[in-house]
Amino acid sequence: MIRHRKRLIYLLGFMGSGKSTVGQLLARRIGWPFIDLDSTIEAGQGASIRDIFERVGEPFFRQIERAALAEISKSEPAVIALGGGTWVQDANLELIRNTGGATVWLDSSVEELRRRCAAITNRPLFRDTESFVQLYNQRLPYYQLAEFRVGTDGFTPEEVAERILGLKIF
Ligand code: S3P
Repeated sequence: MIRHRKRLIYLLGFMGSGKSTVGQLLARRIGWPFIDLDSTIEAGQGASIRDIFERVGEPFFRQIERAALAEISKSEPAVIALGGGTWVQDANLELIRNTGGATVWLDSSVEELRRRCAAITNRPLFRDTESFVQLYNQRLPYYQLAEFRVGTDGFTPEEVAERILGLKIF
C-alpha cells in the first residue's frame, strides 16, 4: 500500500491500446492536465516519432524518451500517456515507480491491437503481424507489473476512462 501518493496517473500498454485517447478523456473527467509522452518528444525534437526512428534509430529514441519522461514526471497533477515501449525499459520503470504515481495498464488482446494498428501507418515498430505478436509477448510480463489493469476489449474509450475512475487509485 502506497501512502504518500503523487497525483500522477501513468497509462501504459501496447501500441494501439488507447493510452492517448483514454488519457485525454480521463484527464478531462478529473480536471487534471493531460500529457502525452510521444507528443512531448515530437514537440521537443520538431520531428515525428517515425522520423526520429529513421534519423537516429531506436536506441537514441529511447534516450530522448527517458529524458522527456523525467521532465514530464515533475508535473503534478497530471494524467500521462506513455509510449508502448516506455514502461518496458528498466530505468523508466524505476523512475516511474519512484515518482509515487499510479500505473494503469490498458490491457487489450493482441488481435484487437493488431486490428487497430494495421489501420494506422505512423508506427515505426509495426511492420508485420509476426513481429508485432512477438513484441507483444515479449512485453506482456512487463505490463503485468503495473499496479492496476483495465481490460479494453469491447469497451469504448469513454467506458475505459470510466472504469479507471472506478479503480481505488487514491
Ligand atoms: C513505441 C510505441 C509508440 C512510440 C514509438 C515506440 C513502442 O507509442 O512511442 O513508436 O516501442 O511500442 P504508442 O504506443 O503510443 O504507439
